Amino acid sequence: MAANDDRERLKREAARKALELVEPGMRLGLGTGSTARHFVDLLGEKVAAGFSVRCVATSEATLAQANGLGIPMTTLDDMPELDLTVDGADEVDPELRLIKGGGGALLREKIVAAASRSMAVIVDASKVVPRLGAFPLPVEVVPFGLAATRRHMEAVLAGLGLGGRPVRLRGGEAPFVTDGGHFILDCSLGAIPDPERLAAALSAIPGVVDHGLFIGYARVAFVASADAVETRRRS
Ligand code: A5P
Repeated sequence: MAANDDRERLKREAARKALELVEPGMRLGLGTGSTARHFVDLLGEKVAAGFSVRCVATSEATLAQANGLGIPMTTLDDMPELDLTVDGADEVDPELRLIKGGGGALLREKIVAAASRSMAVIVDASKVVPRLGAFPLPVEVVPFGLAATRRHMEAVLAGLGLGGRPVRLRGGEAPFVTDGGHFILDCSLGAIPDPERLAAALSAIPGVVDHGLFIGYARVAFVASADAVETRRRS
């Protein structure tokens, strides 16, 4: 319990640091997950005190939270360009490449990040890894042709020297359904030697909507540990 409380405190400190980037009038993307939730909470406090922003959510869950806090929300259709997105991650490597999608929101998260001039990642130090892949890589797929898409993915993974790694349908017999109506296949790869190559290969598979590798999106990461929040920038 105490360890959990400590971790929540670290997530909140990372979120608090990211809030320093937010200027009045900014157009913001709001991430999804337990760390992003702290950011939305803190932003809600600022908005309640009169701060002006306009935001787009990366999931229905975040939208509901933000609406509950009175944060002015809109859509990418009405506001297709954003100044900053703040979001969590499941893994962050030294080049600020990310694995995301542990909460199942990777597609909207990537669309919102891609519409943003900058993305800040907020994590506790446990998410920082020397190499991506210990966290199972989520891949969002359309339900139609699931078995064929999965076989195709397994063949692609084998071609990249990642054969035999488990590829599991999230939720199993009661599949998890994303906000976009898709399924998630979680790939337990152990380590991803060449994230760029894997990202390109997965994106080329029909039936794959998107994958949880975020490469070239994060500009800055705020990493909270017991002592401080460290700022890491992509060069
Ligand atoms: C949501 O789909 C994910 O990409 C989250 O951003 C990621 O899983 C981090 O979540 P936590 O902050 O809850 O660890």
